[in-house]
Amino acid sequence: MAILTPSRVDLRTLANVPVQRAASQVSWEISADGKGVYDHYMLKEIYEQPESVENTIRGRLNFKAGNAVLSGLNLTPREMAQINRIVVAACGSSFHAGLVGSYYFEDIAGIPASVEQAAEFRYRNPIIEPNTLVLPISQSGETADTLAAVREAVNKGAIVAALCNVVGSTIARESGRGIYLHAGPEISVASTKAFTCQVTVLLMLALLLGRNRRLNHEWGEILVKEIESIPGLLRQVLEQAPRIEQIAKATAHADDLFYIGRGCLYPAALEGALKLKEISYVHAEGYHAAELKHGPIALLEPSVPVVALCNSIPGKDKMLGNIQECCARRAPIIAIVSGDDDCCDKFTDSIIRVPDSSRFVAPITTVVALQIFAYYFARERGCEIDQPRNLAKSVTVE
Ligand code: M6R
Repeated sequence: MAILTPSRVDLRTLANVPVQRAASQVSWEISADGKGVYDHYMLKEIYEQPESVENTIRGRLNFKAGNAVLSGLNLTPREMAQINRIVVAACGSSFHAGLVGSYYFEDIAGIPASVEQAAEFRYRNPIIEPNTLVLPISQSGETADTLAAVREAVNKGAIVAALCNVVGSTIARESGRGIYLHAGPEISVASTKAFTCQVTVLLMLALLLGRNRRLNHEWGEILVKEIESIPGLLRQVLEQAPRIEQIAKATAHADDLFYIGRGCLYPAALEGALKLKEISYVHAEGYHAAELKHGPIALLEPSVPVVALCNSIPGKDKMLGNIQECCARRAPIIAIVSGDDDCCDKFTDSIIRVPDSSRFVAPITTVVALQIFAYYFARERGCEIDQPRNLAKSVTVE
């Protein structure tokens, strides 16, 4: 408990025992004009993403070495080289960011990675060895289930490194080491900029662990340049907002939607569907595109739009086949494609264009487009956006 009076701050435990804590300065400023020119914090935070990601990567890329610098990890090259498994524990959007990260760790660094729902972590008796790196991911740093996972991992002797946004939060403190997001304060209940910054940090971490192993200098340089390009690419996505708004408004009558993706875009589909559910109260499900035909395809009909993530990354040809399957059930398609790609023109007029990028960056640009889609969809339905019913910004109960 912190008891604040005009003259002092009195800290006590819940048993009313006085305690001392060192002060730490939080550099965030909630701007005096609140939402500024925006109608909602969510929209403001969507638009802040290029700058937030710039803050996330500032001082953390070494162009010459083709590497990332993440000093908060506090691991020597030898200690990093001994990591033989990565386990992410997180909830909600942070869980989806972790899923994207697991693709990065395996693809870029060659380290086996899994992602656990934080709520399950301690109940399923996870295999944690001394060389397992456990990564709790949490915007708030206070999510009860993620904190419980941290305690379990610390207790089992894992190397625990937290990815948190809130400086000095419980998860950051108890993990002992980690990487702050520097996304700035996120007020809207629906997470936006924290997600993009989490994924950016995971990409930098995969680069660092990769360079510590088999990833050569040339590939390191390529990745550094890709990471550096993210803020500019996000600005290009934001320029598409008027078109995305149009498509969202035209779709806002729908009461059920599917989001489908493959590879690193599968977690992006999950995140897009979560955004829509949270703020518009409409049923939306994210699926791996190949899973549709194993059941959910039975639900497709003309009143059920499918948001298909069809960026130009490996797996696109298969994705086009999946879109065709949806069209055969007369489900309207909203396609996300890269740049001027005309691959989906024959299936739909509802096309959202995100800038061409590698498969590693595509989930970041694509999710921003899906955030904008969810925002205007919910707005068209007259929903409360910043504080949706039944939801809290920080879930501190298990
Ligand atoms: O603060 P955390 O990142 O630990 O929060 C986890 C989830 O509660 C959070 O991501 C939630 O799913 C958001 N409302 C998603 O927009």
